[in-house]
Amino acid sequence: MLTQTVLELNDIQSGALRPRPAPYAATYILLRIDDRKVGRQLLRKLASVVAPADQPASPLRDTWVSVSLTFQGLKVLGVPQASLDSFSPEFQQGMAARAKFIGDKGENSPANWEKPLGSPDVHFVVTAISRDQEHLESEVQRVRNTYGGLSGVAVIWRQDCHALPDEKEAFGFKDGISHPAIEGSGIPGSNPNEKPLKAGEFILGYPDEIGDTPLTPQPAVLGRNGSYIVFRKLHQRVADFRRYLKANAQSADAEELLAAKMMGRWRSGAPLALCPMHDDPGLGTDPKRNNDFLFKDDPVGYKTPPGSHIRRMNPRDAKIAGVVRIHRMIRRGTSYGPPLPDGTLEDDGIDRGLMFAFVGAHLGRQFEFLQSEWMNNSEFFGGDSERDPVSGAGDGTGTFSVPKRPLRKCLSGLPRFVVTRGGEYGFLPSLSAMRWIADLNI
Ligand code: HEM
Repeated sequence: MLTQTVLELNDIQSGALRPRPAPYAATYILLRIDDRKVGRQLLRKLASVVAPADQPASPLRDTWVSVSLTFQGLKVLGVPQASLDSFSPEFQQGMAARAKFIGDKGENSPANWEKPLGSPDVHFVVTAISRDQEHLESEVQRVRNTYGGLSGVAVIWRQDCHALPDEKEAFGFKDGISHPAIEGSGIPGSNPNEKPLKAGEFILGYPDEIGDTPLTPQPAVLGRNGSYIVFRKLHQRVADFRRYLKANAQSADAEELLAAKMMGRWRSGAPLALCPMHDDPGLGTDPKRNNDFLFKDDPVGYKTPPGSHIRRMNPRDAKIAGVVRIHRMIRRGTSYGPPLPDGTLEDDGIDRGLMFAFVGAHLGRQFEFLQSEWMNNSEFFGGDSERDPVSGAGDGTGTFSVPKRPLRKCLSGLPRFVVTRGGEYGFLPSLSAMRWIADLNI
């Protein structure tokens, strides 16, 4: 008899499972803990402002705080060595140490990151998200109240984020569309063709797609109902992106088509898989239809190029080497910085981009695999040595193939449009794990 997974939603942080509101205002606050006891005291207080995932209809609907800890943070709080050793090796090493595996080389390398990102000073990652700035501020005030007056805690970095008009990211594409369905979460996915994924792909302590319960940090109260998170500040070179489109297309319509081929969706969000020849803005904004597609009927990629961003990041049922379902992720991207005014082709020197966020149970086979194999390589679909044309680690020599009859079109000289400003791996503990750590007495 098949049994449906029952997730302990009252113990899981809301931010792990719940899609962000649309539109949204959000903030990332990084804290350094200089005093172990004060750090634990803070964690206890923070546990009281974190909403559990079973309260979708609370008065704070669409407003919540998430708290994660870096490996250094767990160490500082005095988590015993045997427990520290039970975390995944990628998490133990931290994002900066994993740079060469995830394509953070050259310009993207940790030596060039914004301080203190990637440094051992980052201990707590607190995020607050809400439907607007006003609600966000009251939530941030609740967070401030937890550390205000505590000596031994320092705010070392803050990044505010906000939705750009029409839910678009800085290059102008509608974002926040495609999400997996997760068994037992009660939150529907966005693609009716995708069978819900096992909860253990995202929440530790439950069976996953391989049929195992992934290695869960020990003791069970520490690991169960937790997740790993990744946050990455990704600067977007919007003027360069626009100039590249202009230089490689003969008309405004051709520019839009090229942009869509690179992304796999029109800027409106409408997928090429459903409307390959022209945009359909109504489809782009319709959540019932804008993710209702597969790629099997388009093996060569005449509609959606295999090298486009969304087909790389989720090849769905396309023929590839490997199994798609073990490389899925929950994404929580939020934009930062103002949009570059329409039509501007020169950089204005203002920092803008995406705070990319991942939630999952497997840093290695989910986030890192996507970065190294699907984003910065093409072997998995039998392509040449191409990278993701939007977010790949371009170096000015890259190419992008657009399957076309009678001859494919090949674009060359792809520059880097996205620059890593830094980031970190975190552990998003359950509410009981937060209290367990706060109660440590070592
Ligand atoms: C600045 C960098 C990036 C930009 C501008 C960007 C933009 C987008 C946009 C516009 C979409 C389509 C809308 C949607 O489905 O929500 C999308 C989808 C997606 N992106 Fe990115 N992205 C970026 C970086 C990344 C990174 C670093 C990863 C993972 C390592 C990633 C993974 C995905 C995934 C998994 C999807 C959903 C694909 C699908 O299910 O169809 N993206 N991205």
